[in-house]
Amino acid sequence: MDKAGDAVTILGAGTQGTRLAYMWTSQGQPVYLIDKDEKQLEKAKKGVETLKSNTQSPWATSGKWGEVITSSPDGLSEAASKSWMLLECLPESLKLKRTIVKELDELAGAETIIASNSSSYTIEEILENQSLKQPDRFSSLHCYWPPETSAIEVMGSSKTRPEIISLLMEETKKHGFSPFHVRKNSTGYLYNRIWAAIKREALLTLAEGVATPQELDAIFKDVLKTPKGPCEQMDVVGLDVVRDIEQHYADVRTGIPEEPRQYLQKMIDQGKLGVKSGSGFYEYDRK
Ligand SMILES: NC(=O)c1ccc[n+]([C@@H]2O[C@H](COP(=O)([O-])OP(=O)(O)OC[C@H]3O[C@@H](n4cnc5c(N)ncnc54)[C@H](O)[C@@H]3O)[C@@H](O)[C@H]2O)c1
Repeated sequence: MDKAGDAVTILGAGTQGTRLAYMWTSQGQPVYLIDKDEKQLEKAKKGVETLKSNTQSPWATSGKWGEVITSSPDGLSEAASKSWMLLECLPESLKLKRTIVKELDELAGAETIIASNSSSYTIEEILENQSLKQPDRFSSLHCYWPPETSAIEVMGSSKTRPEIISLLMEETKKHGFSPFHVRKNSTGYLYNRIWAAIKREALLTLAEGVATPQELDAIFKDVLKTPKGPCEQMDVVGLDVVRDIEQHYADVRTGIPEEPRQYLQKMIDQGKLGVKSGSGFYEYDRK
């Protein structure tokens, strides 16, 4: 399959949009970075420069960077006409994502790929019951934070043309990602499902009074030789965010136990949200 343009358009210049603009310019091609917030666009441009100057970065190439062209949503049509892929990195709202993919489908040329970076909503869910011009050109394209994590998950909908998956696997690899093909519609993709199971079982163990967070983290780190245990990691993510993610699994799947969510909810009701509130499984200095 030939690419429908040189550039990539990224919609949403937040944490992920910034990181992705950096990656997709790493081989010399331009990125159109679109956001409704002008300050965010300035911040993102600086963020890309910071990532570029980071010599630790495995993608630091020798001056072959493409331009990051920032614009308000007014510039979307023009950006789309020059891009082989439009990638949405907007906040995690199903309603917003459904609206934007419809809009992108209307304005993009027939061969342009439209992808979503959503962590919770699969492309199948986003496209559900939507009447689209070209329903076979969509994919989830999900990457991680921090930027040093090169894994990216490519997951089509039941209608996605196989050559779109092949092109995404190829292009992501060329741009320094480690692509993984998720072969079926899967809430949580690959890695997040494994991580969700670890969090769920850790919370269940705590709810049953089998161990303390300190003990769970200590044994986890001792066996797996990782720097953080599940409770420490949940504190970093935020316990309200962990609860919302777990609730989404419970909404779309059967057999998800309630105790882990109840346990989290008790902590949240006490104002314990993890690092951001100064208290979670552990206490933190809020300064
Ligand atoms: N942050 C992460 O670690 C991470 C990891 C993997 C995937 N994701 C996914 O990436 C997506 C974006 O997450 P993020 O953390 O970068 O969010 P973010 O809040 O940092 O950025 C979202 C950006 O979208 C802009 N925006 C909102 N509505 C808009 C609109 N209508 N038009 C144009 N711009 C608009 C905001 O101004 C903001 O700059 C989410 O779907 C999330 O699930 C995030």
